[in-house]
Amino acid sequence: MDSTCVITIDGPAGAGTSTLARALAASLGWSFLDTGALYRALALAVSERGLEGASPGELAALALRLEISVSLGPDVSRVALGGRDVTALLRSPEISSLASALAAVPEARESLRAIQRRLGERGRLVAEGRDQGTAIFPEARLKFFLTASPEARAARRAKELRERGVDSPFGTVLAEMLARDRNDMTRKADPLREALDAVRVDSTSLTLEEALALMTARAREVFGVMVAGAAQGAGP
Ligand code: DC
Repeated sequence: MDSTCVITIDGPAGAGTSTLARALAASLGWSFLDTGALYRALALAVSERGLEGASPGELAALALRLEISVSLGPDVSRVALGGRDVTALLRSPEISSLASALAAVPEARESLRAIQRRLGERGRLVAEGRDQGTAIFPEARLKFFLTASPEARAARRAKELRERGVDSPFGTVLAEMLARDRNDMTRKADPLREALDAVRVDSTSLTLEEALALMTARAREVFGVMVAGAAQGAGP
């Protein structure tokens, strides 16, 4: 098994990348990797240590010391720092902004790259993020790029935050999202962009089920036998 048995899903915040990556992995019987959680875990570690002003070199050294580990499953991607499961602490607006800032630091990206590549080598992985199809798994045989209008994305993110008990006004969520888009798309290190060979899915007016059906059909076309094997119970 190798990293050509990886499906990459990239797109801006709120385009549905996490939800659809999780659903696609579950429907294929593959594992799901939420790479944003790695950046968020690094942000949490930085915030807990009060290191927001650290230099790129210090951040990279911290990332290497952290012992970030990921456990993969078809509907879960859990992250631990030094053995402590931090998955539930990663979704606050503060961690989102700090993660976006750290993601612009090439040294921080480099230190998380090896973790992602290692997980890809196991194969049968749906990897979701900003640079999966362009920088981490450029050899992947199937790449999706998800988009949706900023308003649709902000509405989804506001709903998700409400469900987690965080009540942010729509205008604030939209402004934070546009700021993160700018950060993610204009940074020099592996900016968010669409791979030339990606299949573009605009989810503005698609339901989750419609987008998933389209993506599953494409995965079955590309991976045929392997996916059929997984459906009969073969694990990742
Ligand atoms: O997908 P997310 O919102 O959990 O990602 C958190 C931040 O991490 C986001 O602002 C961009 C960054 N990120 C990245 O640069 N590359 C990835 N592969 C995943 C996330």
